[in-house]
Amino acid sequence: MLDLQSRPSVQPASAKDWLATQEKLRGDYSTCAADFSMAQDMGAYTAAEHDLWRRLFHRQSEVAQRYAASAFLAGMKNLDMSADRIPNFEAASKRLRELTGWEIVAVPGLIPDDAFFRHLANRRFPVTVWIREEHEIDYLVEPDVFHDFFGHVPLLTQPIFADYLQEYGRKGEEAMAMGATKILARLFWYMAEFGLIRENGNIKAYGAGMLSSATETAYSVTSAKPQRLRFDLQRVMSTDFRIDAFQETYFVLENYDELFAAMSRDFAPLYRQILAVPAIPARAIRAGDTIINIAA
Ligand SMILES: [Fe+2]
Repeated sequence: MLDLQSRPSVQPASAKDWLATQEKLRGDYSTCAADFSMAQDMGAYTAAEHDLWRRLFHRQSEVAQRYAASAFLAGMKNLDMSADRIPNFEAASKRLRELTGWEIVAVPGLIPDDAFFRHLANRRFPVTVWIREEHEIDYLVEPDVFHDFFGHVPLLTQPIFADYLQEYGRKGEEAMAMGATKILARLFWYMAEFGLIRENGNIKAYGAGMLSSATETAYSVTSAKPQRLRFDLQRVMSTDFRIDAFQETYFVLENYDELFAAMSRDFAPLYRQILAVPAIPARAIRAGDTIINIAA
């Protein structure tokens, strides 16, 4: 699944210039503000769109019950997410503010890196307003409200992950200035979209990309095909990823604290080292990797 962080990161002078560089974005950007936020028009959703949400929600909730990390499941409960209707962002923001001081901002779709980083740095998570079409129930190219909300928002109710994501956003400016946005984006990709965590000896999924997908969650947790490596910041930021297929490598946390702790490192020297050598292919094992085996 394509996500906003996988786009090239040339930063145009204005929102209009940025839009002109994008291919066929499907959202309506005509009413959004300079930071790409807009109003969520609850009245604009059709009964069929709410019904599509309902079916996606039930399908992915079942997947989550089997394979999701406990923090994700706790987050779903915390949000009191509606099973039947596309969620109202303002109501969810009210709950999030109480829990972790985060809020949701409605956006028309993909937004430029600088706007994305700035929102995260200010504890605002951009969520796309539109929902996919019926024929895209199993796969879509741009993230929609189901991916963004169901996949990402539950973990924002968890203080340690919420703090981590703000620190991630704060790293954006330096990365852009150093031409290292792609390197920082790998961290988002592997640890926010496709992250795994070990709980009581079992591998569990917490990434939004897999948890909003019909089939990648089970694959990431149970298949013998992908490799699972112990989380290592530099290794993650050095590794290419696939946007058009299941991941070939997943990185596994022991806890979210180690992800947050990694953000206290000075990233500038890491960027210089990583920029100086070719990226590690998506499927590769290097000396120093710790392979995590799944239980037989
Ligand atoms: Fe995402």
